[in-house]
Amino acid sequence: MPLPWARSGNPCMSIAETLHGTWASRWVFIFAATGSAVGLGNIWKFPYIVGQHGGGAFVLVYLSCILAVGVPLMMAEVLIGRRARRSPVNAVATMARESGRSEHWQIAGFMGVLAGLLIFSFYSVVAGWVLEYLLASSRGELINMGYQQAGERFRTLLADPRTMFGWHTLFVTIVMSILACGVVHGLERATRLIMPALFALLVVLLGYTVTGGYFTQAWNFLFSFESRQLSWEAALAALGHAFFTLSLGLGAIMVYGSYMPKKSSISGAVLTIAALDTLVALMASLVIYPIVFASGSDPAAGPGLMFITLPVAFDQMPGGQVIGLLFFGLVALAAITSAISLMEPAVAFLIEHLGISRLQSCMLLGALVWLLGTAALASFNVLNGVVLFDRSIYNLLDFVTASILLPLSGILVALFIGWRMKRTYLREELAIRNVWLFRLWYLLIRFVAPAAIAVVFVQNLRH
Ligand code: PFF
Repeated sequence: MPLPWARSGNPCMSIAETLHGTWASRWVFIFAATGSAVGLGNIWKFPYIVGQHGGGAFVLVYLSCILAVGVPLMMAEVLIGRRARRSPVNAVATMARESGRSEHWQIAGFMGVLAGLLIFSFYSVVAGWVLEYLLASSRGELINMGYQQAGERFRTLLADPRTMFGWHTLFVTIVMSILACGVVHGLERATRLIMPALFALLVVLLGYTVTGGYFTQAWNFLFSFESRQLSWEAALAALGHAFFTLSLGLGAIMVYGSYMPKKSSISGAVLTIAALDTLVALMASLVIYPIVFASGSDPAAGPGLMFITLPVAFDQMPGGQVIGLLFFGLVALAAITSAISLMEPAVAFLIEHLGISRLQSCMLLGALVWLLGTAALASFNVLNGVVLFDRSIYNLLDFVTASILLPLSGILVALFIGWRMKRTYLREELAIRNVWLFRLWYLLIRFVAPAAIAVVFVQNLRH
């Protein structure tokens, strides 16, 4: 019996087509998925967690996690999406049905959709801060600040619900407008415009830090490996981050895979996406660390690295005002393409399930995440004292998604593909000619990925 949310909007639709559109080429898919993967996780979070966990050793573990868990799981998500040509909930249901299994497996897709909405609501709050800093740097407001003043400025922003509300509303409006324009005219066009700009900005910024001092110090910090830095905690953080940075576990990559042209190699595309995502994280670190070292501050400064440390550092360097402006522009663009992919699974699901138009789906969901985000931002000020399950609303949203929904849905997808889906489908869809490579992937998806994610999941729950 199909579950109530498993209806496909158009029962006559053949499996070869999709209700929502198809990317013009394999490269558009690669750039769209890279746009999803490259976001605040690469530019804001990666540099500070590398800093907190001591540098090179963390980077090495992180790269292993990307290869051993991230890449196989991303291939699995793309495979399901492209074969079923539906939004994640219906895609998993369709594949389960065709493999003669229970449709209840679609709960994995459902958890992903829910996680996307919840993550979006606090992603939008952080993106709102980025927009605020972008405007402030364009107005030259971030000059002549010491650390104390920079910290004070950031805290003043957090304490001001109206300003945060305005930026959050603007961010929701931008993202939902792009989504409302559809896969081809919205998502694809935004990808084509934003991704080249993002890479160009990154190269300009990197050119600046390569030629300045402290580049070698930054390089050594990232790539010199000392085994005594390796810790269990760092390994867990590395795996968790690998999962988040590749946008896994919530159907974003699955839904993008469902718009992928049929005849293109999944493994090649996924390796390219993972490589580009890693490249951006490393490049962003090589932009940020020289600036941080030059100003004598600490790379382990935590979440405040981008909003407190960097503005001060920009202020101290020649041409820093322009560099700061470019930098916050870069982060804003990266946040937009990621946020689009956080919402697309839910948007496509509502269209299929309720048979409503894309515009209606976007308006409904936009209103929902706007409300949720408003609660999240209020937890920094108006609702400061409100604690649910020992956490502020913002932290609760973060915990429920990153520590519960994403890993659970990731494990379910890995188990479904590895143990329940017909092996012939996997072979047909992946079309890997080398038998040993296919076996390696199958081994990773059956045993390594679920076990590794389960360890992180249990460990996160204990904290
Ligand atoms: N990968 C994004 C980042 O690194 O910022 C975050 C993200 C986007 C996670 C989309 C999940 C997702 F579906």
